[in-house]
Amino acid sequence: MKIAKGILVTFFFPVIFFSQAQTATSVSNLFPLIPKPVSFKASEGKFPLSNKTIIVADSSSIPDVEIFNLQLEKIYGFSLPVFLPGQHVHEDGVISVSRQTKQLIPKDGYELSVHQKLISLNGKDAGVFYGFQTLLQLIIPGMEKTDSIPCCEVKDSPRFPWRGMHLDVCRHFFSKEFIKKYIDLIALYKMNTFHWHLTDDQGWRIEIKKYPKLIETGSWRNGSMVGAYSNGQFDSIRYGGYYSQDDIREVVAYAMQRHVTIVPEIEMPGHSLAALASYPELSCTGGPFEVAKAWGVFDDVYCPKEETFQFVENVLSEVCDLFPGKYIHVGGDECAKVRWKNCEHCQKLMKEKKLKDENQLQSYFIRRLERYLHSKGKQLIGWDEILEGGLAPGVTVMSWRGTEGGIIAAKQHHDVVMTPGSHCYFDYYQGSPDYEPLGIGGYTTVEKVYSYEPVPAELSSENKKYILGAQGNVWTEYIQTPSQVEYMALPRMCALAEVLWSPKEMKKYSEFQNRLIRHFSLLDKLNVNYAKTIYELKTSVKPLENGNGISFGLTSPFTSGNIFYTMDGSDPAAESVLYTQPVSIVKSCKVKAAYFEDGQRKGNTLSQEFFVSKSTGKKIKLNIPPHENYFCNGPQSLVDGIKGDLHKHGQNWLGWWGKDMVAEIDLGKKETFSKISLDVYDGEASWIYLPVSIEILISDDGDQFSSIKKLSSEEIKKFNGAIEIQTGNQSARFVKVIAKNAGKIPDGKQGSGNDAWLFVDEISVE
Ligand code: ACM
Ligand code: ZN
Repeated sequence: MKIAKGILVTFFFPVIFFSQAQTATSVSNLFPLIPKPVSFKASEGKFPLSNKTIIVADSSSIPDVEIFNLQLEKIYGFSLPVFLPGQHVHEDGVISVSRQTKQLIPKDGYELSVHQKLISLNGKDAGVFYGFQTLLQLIIPGMEKTDSIPCCEVKDSPRFPWRGMHLDVCRHFFSKEFIKKYIDLIALYKMNTFHWHLTDDQGWRIEIKKYPKLIETGSWRNGSMVGAYSNGQFDSIRYGGYYSQDDIREVVAYAMQRHVTIVPEIEMPGHSLAALASYPELSCTGGPFEVAKAWGVFDDVYCPKEETFQFVENVLSEVCDLFPGKYIHVGGDECAKVRWKNCEHCQKLMKEKKLKDENQLQSYFIRRLERYLHSKGKQLIGWDEILEGGLAPGVTVMSWRGTEGGIIAAKQHHDVVMTPGSHCYFDYYQGSPDYEPLGIGGYTTVEKVYSYEPVPAELSSENKKYILGAQGNVWTEYIQTPSQVEYMALPRMCALAEVLWSPKEMKKYSEFQNRLIRHFSLLDKLNVNYAKTIYELKTSVKPLENGNGISFGLTSPFTSGNIFYTMDGSDPAAESVLYTQPVSIVKSCKVKAAYFEDGQRKGNTLSQEFFVSKSTGKKIKLNIPPHENYFCNGPQSLVDGIKGDLHKHGQNWLGWWGKDMVAEIDLGKKETFSKISLDVYDGEASWIYLPVSIEILISDDGDQFSSIKKLSSEEIKKFNGAIEIQTGNQSARFVKVIAKNAGKIPDGKQGSGNDAWLFVDEISVE
């Protein structure tokens, strides 16, 4: 859109109608604004958008006006003529835009007043742009069609300065056109940071002029994994792609116009096989290497020799020139140490520099990068492993293995961006894995993302200020296409955007969900393939009061229709049993349920199998609580009759990180039994390892236990996860099950050096 200097530009305007007057009191929650503004007051009346509407903007706002016009054009097929103040006299239908005339507006904040003849938008910094995003979302108030903007007063500004989305373009490559669409979405939700993961074992994606082999060799692999990691299957299709420096400059400029800063990530010292395949002399062994076809973590990493530092500094120098933002991400995560342990140079360097272990060698690596980036006027950011061996001064930490890294860093007065797997990994399943495309694992629903609070309660008020914000991460091992990226990112990024923008006290999921459902029409207009998992029936399981089974509850986010269900394995129809109250499950069965409106099923059919045994619904105690990321419904999840899927560690599994499971079940009275079953998950790619022993103990008083059976690691492996322990005839009231965690993950295995996860579900006593 060019500025129309004094001439009214002709444009096409779609004729759409607004049918229903809305009152001031009910209206604020009805507008599908995401993120929710800090203050929104609706009033009577509407500003009619028509071919007489013009925009009058001061010169500093013109770039934002131009982007708004491009957005209007894309969504509605029209744009508005633009004038500088005083250029054009217009009685009504004016959108008046100015930047920072009110000193009281906070950074990146805006004030928007919509009256019947005038809209005025006043913003500070990116605030003008954000005000336009609100205006854009107001044009489509939910289910109503409108050619008007409802009268209102909005005062708004962000809660956190870092509102980010990440995308891995290495495991799968995405064109610059798609990257622009992704940036459009980031900007639409008033987020401001795009973390572009540009290099990894499976591909190097950024042209570096000084090192052409990074593209010639490093951007291609000779095949990819097919299906789940555990299948170990590959295709032999050559796969690759990269961005030229011109592409990068184009995308950086595009992002900047939308107030999005790009943080490029150049991974080191680990996740660097694509670079080592191109320049094997930078490794400890000299190679040769192939760009990785498998997902996961590899032993070969950069060797910290002078030649390597020359290389990475030259690479970073070109990266610094391409990206004007202050942060450069250098990875730092999942660096295997086995090559360093066996490398003459590495060991000599450690002695020389008095580094006591390989973690300190990693810290030495990162410190050198930090000094270099500092000399270029940039700031280093890295994943939380950069804490190990001591944090270099001045670096920012991205906390991904939970929140602990972020807490430690903030206590040391380092800036922190929160991206814990539990709430911010949008490659995790967002709905029941039964219905979702194959994913990496996990279970992070829209509601869970929405519940996220980035500032850990453990931090003192003084240290809270180091939490810059949070970010949603989209790793693409199992995401092959742009449409699948959209599916995994949305609507979870809508939820995160609100977490990061809106005041904490305003958050209410049910209200957000209502807004979101109506907001979907905007995503439809933008041709975004968002997930509809929020329509899934929600389930709840509770022990029956008499302890002899499970009470199974179902709810739908909709209320105008009904839920129907079956218990005989047949598909539910509008003629099946009407759900009115939780269903009692007292024997093994499969419940299938779906939500219907006017006889039509909406959303997926839920299918839940129950395995009822003598332990189902009984009291259970865990001596060591599971990790917060894999807590499910707490201890009761182990005796709720529902088994975790042995092929997808999404729902239903309880996880312990580096800790054992000690479960004590009270059968309520003395019971006879001869078999105890439990499921354990085997998932090396996700650092989930089988327990090294499982012991069964029994007791009559819950105090003195005697051991009746103990399985060794070798015996456990034979069961492929579904463990059945023949105990011989026993009689007892209390059963204790101890599953021992595999401990520190050894070299050569995925996650080496980290604690292993132990995943357990459903303990059945038969
Ligand atoms: C990560 O997910 N490896 C940062
Ligand atoms: Zn070495």
